[in-house]
Amino acid sequence: MHRASFTLDPAFSVGAVDPRLFGSFVEHLGRCVYTGVHEPGHPAADDNGFRRDVLDLVREMGVTVVRYPGGNFVSGHRWEDGVGPVRRARLEPAWRSVETNEFGLGEFAAWARAAGIEPMMAVNLGTRGVQEACDLLEYANHPGGTHLSDLRAEHGDAEPYGIRMWCLGNEMDGSWQIGHRPAADYGKLAAATARAMRMIDPGLELVACGSSHHSMPTFGAWEEEVLTAAYDDVDHVSLHAYYREENDDPASFLASGSAMEDFIEDVVATCDHVRAKLKRRKRINLSFDEWNVWYMKPMEEEAQPWERAPRLLENTYSLTDAVAVGGMLIALLRHADRVKIACQAQLVNVIAPIMTEPGGPAWRQATFHPFAQAARYGRGEVLRVEPVSPTVETAAYGETPLLHATAVRDAESGTVTVFAVNRALDGPMELTADVRALNTPDAPDGLRVLSHEVLADDDRHAKNTRENPDRVRPRPLEGADAAAVDGGRLRAVLPPLSWNVIRLGR
Ligand code: AHR
Repeated sequence: MHRASFTLDPAFSVGAVDPRLFGSFVEHLGRCVYTGVHEPGHPAADDNGFRRDVLDLVREMGVTVVRYPGGNFVSGHRWEDGVGPVRRARLEPAWRSVETNEFGLGEFAAWARAAGIEPMMAVNLGTRGVQEACDLLEYANHPGGTHLSDLRAEHGDAEPYGIRMWCLGNEMDGSWQIGHRPAADYGKLAAATARAMRMIDPGLELVACGSSHHSMPTFGAWEEEVLTAAYDDVDHVSLHAYYREENDDPASFLASGSAMEDFIEDVVATCDHVRAKLKRRKRINLSFDEWNVWYMKPMEEEAQPWERAPRLLENTYSLTDAVAVGGMLIALLRHADRVKIACQAQLVNVIAPIMTEPGGPAWRQATFHPFAQAARYGRGEVLRVEPVSPTVETAAYGETPLLHATAVRDAESGTVTVFAVNRALDGPMELTADVRALNTPDAPDGLRVLSHEVLADDDRHAKNTRENPDRVRPRPLEGADAAAVDGGRLRAVLPPLSWNVIRLGR
């Protein structure tokens, strides 16, 4: 049995959780839009062609924000093709598909309202620039009385969409990106676009592209150069990261949450370095607007080119993937002071927690569950958790603690939720936590355990499929191993390779 411990004290807080930490991403890629969120003629489709079975799962998952329309797709995107009565089909080079543009900005805005999420748009800074970004903004957000805002009304939407969050391009540091450019050029373009967009709508929150992943050769230098040019004009810098198990090495893969924390801390350091250099008071926050597990394949192996809505990036996730995703959610929460927006990429069918079949059912992947639980219970103030834990030596990231954990306190109800991953494959872990400081005058005897739910499985490769959609799901832990509080001490036994949600309340 492994043994680990920590202390919880409301006096030591990381910061408040921004609800936008539980965002997702809908890109025109594969079947995310077509036969994912949108499938006219499906038995569950509403009058707009939105799949109601998918909408129900999006609400159940607790998604707060959805980034749209890309991704690599946005860098060749002409938003005008996707509005109004005449839609133009185009070659879509980023994913080598045919884009029919049947679903565009108006449909996305209507879908966002139906799903109860806040939209986050990206503008094309690959093949386009300042003018087209301003045109799109005028169409989306200006109330009326101009060509583009009146055009939106003509297209059926008299009310502006009021989109507050905008990404200034996508992964512009990547050589694969249409219109990829050096940091100095992108920094100037991002600053100029941001300034012009704010002239139209001063209330925007703007995200500059950071690095496409931590190991990009330009990582660090890219952020420094871009922020030096655009510091006063943007609010956030983006981070993207995808992890996967390689070489049958689950220990390295399960350390992904810690690798993600290193990435966040490096970006925070770079933002604050530029702040010091420029002598500014404002701090740049982080938008981790693409993160997930992704088993990448070369495009040639994914699909034949120039099809409409081909099956691309349709990964099926295992229990191990779900526990790794849990670790990534813990990493984001542990940095809630600086990470204000995060989007799991993507929402439906494409490296997604929700899968669908055309004309058929929708179901939850294993990775759906940790997200849904974190989005539901991870609201309030993140408490500082410093685990004392045994470690494992990993090939990819060196020495890594076997316990990865955080805790979130809802100040109003006093409820505290502990999210904990036992990364050990070879045995359970006894977790003890000193929770005496959580006693309050109206609960002098301390908090009790409301529930202890676990995502674990005897087969670490177990997956949810169309035929068996609930094989991997959280279950209440009962018996001697279940969490209990005694004398101000929380004790629980976390199964090997498990994601745990322990709720403490009065
Ligand atoms: O989410 C899939 C792709 O990953 C996105 O289009 C791109 O931004 C990233 O490289």
